[in-house]
Amino acid sequence: MASGNGVRRVELEQSVSEKFLGVQADRRKFFGSATLAAVSGAAWAKFAYGQAGNEPELPPTPIPIRPFQAVLPVPPVLQPLTSRNGSPPFEPGSAFHGIAPEFADVAKYTQYPLKYYTVDMRPSRHEFIPGVKTPVWTYNGIVPGPTIKARIGEPIVVRFRNRLSVETSIHLHGGHSPSHADGYPTYFVEPGKDRDYFYPNTVPLHHGKPDYSESVSTCWYHDHAMDIAGPNVFFGLSGLFLCTDRLEDSLIASNVLPKMDVPLVLCDRRFNADGTFYYDMLDHDGAVGDIYLVNGKVQPKFQVQRRKYRFRILNGSNARYYDLRFSDGRGFLQVGNDSWLLPFAMPRESMMLSPAKRADIIVDFSDAPSVVYLNNWMAQSGGRKPDGAATQPTPLMKFEVVGNRVRNDAKVEAGTPIRPHTPILASEIQTTRVFDFGRSNGSWVINNQLYEPTRVDATPKLNTAERWIFNNNSGGWWHPIHVHLESYQVQSINGQRPPLWESFKSDTVNLADGTSAEIFMKFRTFKGPFAFHCHNVEHEDLRMMMNFNVVE
Ligand code: C2O
Ligand code: CU
Repeated sequence: MASGNGVRRVELEQSVSEKFLGVQADRRKFFGSATLAAVSGAAWAKFAYGQAGNEPELPPTPIPIRPFQAVLPVPPVLQPLTSRNGSPPFEPGSAFHGIAPEFADVAKYTQYPLKYYTVDMRPSRHEFIPGVKTPVWTYNGIVPGPTIKARIGEPIVVRFRNRLSVETSIHLHGGHSPSHADGYPTYFVEPGKDRDYFYPNTVPLHHGKPDYSESVSTCWYHDHAMDIAGPNVFFGLSGLFLCTDRLEDSLIASNVLPKMDVPLVLCDRRFNADGTFYYDMLDHDGAVGDIYLVNGKVQPKFQVQRRKYRFRILNGSNARYYDLRFSDGRGFLQVGNDSWLLPFAMPRESMMLSPAKRADIIVDFSDAPSVVYLNNWMAQSGGRKPDGAATQPTPLMKFEVVGNRVRNDAKVEAGTPIRPHTPILASEIQTTRVFDFGRSNGSWVINNQLYEPTRVDATPKLNTAERWIFNNNSGGWWHPIHVHLESYQVQSINGQRPPLWESFKSDTVNLADGTSAEIFMKFRTFKGPFAFHCHNVEHEDLRMMMNFNVVE
């Protein structure tokens, strides 16, 4: 019996991966720029069905869900390799795909010794739904992947080893990384091969001094391989990358920010009856699920004490937007937007998060009832955009509040200074560029062009500042726009000042339909090429992406 089970398992795994590889080949074929224009007829209709406005109903997950059974897992922290008798555990750059040339300057970034890590990308099985094993693609066997913890001034090398049957490319979202280590869409890690990712964990210079206003905090890493980032991420390839520096450490040590620090990776998935993921390779509206996961478990429960908690919330969904609120209406403080801590703590009551956005928040449970839910109030049935406010909230997770109020709790309150901000001034702007995000023949374009990895779409000069205008004219679709390499400072949205929490540093800004956003950005760390794109990952795959090459 046991061996019979074993045999069936292997067969299932093979058939899943064969099925996947087959459609993946279709996806690739459709995506070749040359064929893209030539595709027609029924295939095209299927490929572009969002265009007609008659999106097919997605099959509901046929597995019964009992929420709040599983305990919220917290992804383990990736441990560095120890050196063997003083010599490094591996030679950086000896991997098949090498290492960034910037590694030659590693000494320049080092305040602390270089650390070495390995991450294996490999198939595994994961219980998102208790008792249901789902085949997944993972970093080190787990979903989300292990959390990488780093420090500003402490460069690390991560050897990513691809033991999957598809190409991958790993992007550290929200970090300042050299091009070779930035997950450029065609800087693949081929199946069976390795690439050394050099993360200097550095900050840009401001008047010749390190600009610690740029220290990153809540980043994430995820797949970015050309054409197939959507399925690669959906099948499990994402994890958190948390970074700290002296200022953040001192805010925690002096009990301004809470020591209780818990990541919450939100995403949605759809399942088939056999527990495999439902993912339509030819749907480029954006993959929207009907099952809600936090840290890889369906609607988990989590026990908290009567005190303040810091939650790093990541919207890790491919296409879903959330409107987050607590069930008892309690407010919270936002202390970080995307990768960066804010200048001061800001009170919030609800929070809209587009795909890829992060919010670093503080929730005070000291006076909470014994049960509080984190609710999503945003309804969304397809990749086009949210349907609007839900009539009923969906609880994403349950907090069980226990014990008495804790004494000497963290001191942060509305207005508490967190991290000083260095604004980019209008007088520094040297160039303005305009990018129109649109739709053409059922695929996604920027300035009417499909993504082309060998074409350079903008060449900002190192150490200059630019104004970029993002326009969304795509007729009713929403697009969250992410730029690699540097933070940007949103100046205006439709001519109005952005909300306070979005008026400092961001790396992803949502463009609702008919929206125009103006951002300032300074190119100070590394030379290109780098990508920018819509972070509805299916839109990104169907070519809503461009390249900028930072030049000297
Ligand atoms: Cu999070 Cu270019 O992506
Ligand atoms: Cu989009």
